[in-house]
Amino acid sequence: MDQTAVEARRSVGNEPPAFDVGRLESPALSSALLDALLRYPVGQRILDVLRWIKPVWRIPFLEWTLVLRYEHVREVLSSSGEFQVPWGAKMKRVTSDDGAEPPNGRNFVLGMTEPDAHYRQDYALLAQAFAFGDVATTVSRLALEASETCLRDWQPTQQTPFFDVVERLVLSVPAMMCDTYYGIPIADPVHFGKCSLAVSSYLFGPPFEDDGKASTARKREMALAAAAPLRHTIRTAMREAEQSLMANGDNPADSSPLHRLMRAKRDSCGAIDDDRIHVQLFGMVLGFIPTNVLAAGNLLETLLDKPEFMLRTVQAARAGDDERLWRCLRETLRFRNINPGPWRLCAHDTLLANAHGRATRIRKGEQVLACTQAAMFDGRRITHPHLFDSNRPDEDYLVFGLGQHWCLGAYIAIAQITQMFKVLFTHFDVSPAPGAAGRMKRVSVFPLHQMVSLKPVAAPYGLASGAQPHSAQHGG
Ligand code: HEM
Repeated sequence: MDQTAVEARRSVGNEPPAFDVGRLESPALSSALLDALLRYPVGQRILDVLRWIKPVWRIPFLEWTLVLRYEHVREVLSSSGEFQVPWGAKMKRVTSDDGAEPPNGRNFVLGMTEPDAHYRQDYALLAQAFAFGDVATTVSRLALEASETCLRDWQPTQQTPFFDVVERLVLSVPAMMCDTYYGIPIADPVHFGKCSLAVSSYLFGPPFEDDGKASTARKREMALAAAAPLRHTIRTAMREAEQSLMANGDNPADSSPLHRLMRAKRDSCGAIDDDRIHVQLFGMVLGFIPTNVLAAGNLLETLLDKPEFMLRTVQAARAGDDERLWRCLRETLRFRNINPGPWRLCAHDTLLANAHGRATRIRKGEQVLACTQAAMFDGRRITHPHLFDSNRPDEDYLVFGLGQHWCLGAYIAIAQITQMFKVLFTHFDVSPAPGAAGRMKRVSVFPLHQMVSLKPVAAPYGLASGAQPHSAQHGG
């Protein structure tokens, strides 16, 4: 596709391309089976037994290697040259213009295999746009306000006695914050959020899912259809921010990451182009909404399943202690993390050493699962792994990964999730709705719906609008 055609496609009309989010709703047996397998304690007990038999498993016909021990998982994630991220090609495809072959999209930091100059420049651009200082000054407050907005107007009625806590809170809050914090105007946050789930499910799914076979083509086709409205919304926001920058000059009120990125483009003398800004925003939307939905959805499911975890978490929320609340949430997430762990591609034969001086060879070309879920329960390293202990040291947690690709949005995630659960638990006693509606409905691994009963607490714990969030920042 030549450049004029590309520009024409990008600027066509103001209507975003349609994506039927109803396609996510059809129940899939595979999602239900996956859910049953990944829930604590089933999945964890299987991983414990596998790790006890052998720390590294090779599945020959799939060319997969599962790495299950704490020190091995750390080694794999710390060696980004030997064990490379496999997301780059898919990232370029979902950020491509419709129908462009070969894909003309860009890569994002998470898809870059080496910490080379290109990676470092993009990382610096992101760190400047999504400034660490925003967490205390802006992100926590916006998360608190968005959560209160989502819960404020809900009243149980005879027709709708239960609250869909996933769609109306867990998904809505990060999607609203892509507008209020990132600066991307979003007409329908739930629709935007659901599109991001479809894309993420393809992008970060197992590597075999991009093999071009008919069985996996549906997921890819759905992701590409869902990516189009995301790209349209982001490109429209970029154009409007650029026009406002040209018309009004530097306006101190425009301090969103979007405006900072457009300012960086203006000041770069042509070194930064629109495609580079677009992929940063696209990647950060996908880093934010689907990952936080997955984490908060898993957290909620585990809390509803484990009354003693719920009790400690609710007590921390009602004490107004953000740091303790995050510790309880992080400990709950350890029992069912966002996924079993990140995938890597082994770039050349590599030996993984163990404490007894023996080494296991991982072959070039193997798809390696660095199983952080198994590592966080490795009894050689983690004290009483099956006990809930919110005072564990930070190194016990691998929820945000490790090494080159350690989560760049970790503090944004911590602030959003902590504030959202604080608002929920200080205003309501939460319990699952009876029957099937009270079980979490997912698309692939992503939570979509969960009906709960919200019983207002007699005296909300002083956290209604205006209360200041405290900072809760603990790395993984
Ligand atoms: C609780 C929520 C979250 C969890 C559990 C989480 C987890 C992770 C993990 C495990 C990785 C490493 C992936 C790998 O090694 O292949 C990662 C990377 C990343 N995450 Fe998150 N994440 C969360 C929320 C966020 C948010 C809210 C953002 C953006 C605002 C974000 C942006 C990123 C980015 C940009 C990277 C790549 C960093 C790099 O490659 O240098 N994440 N995240």
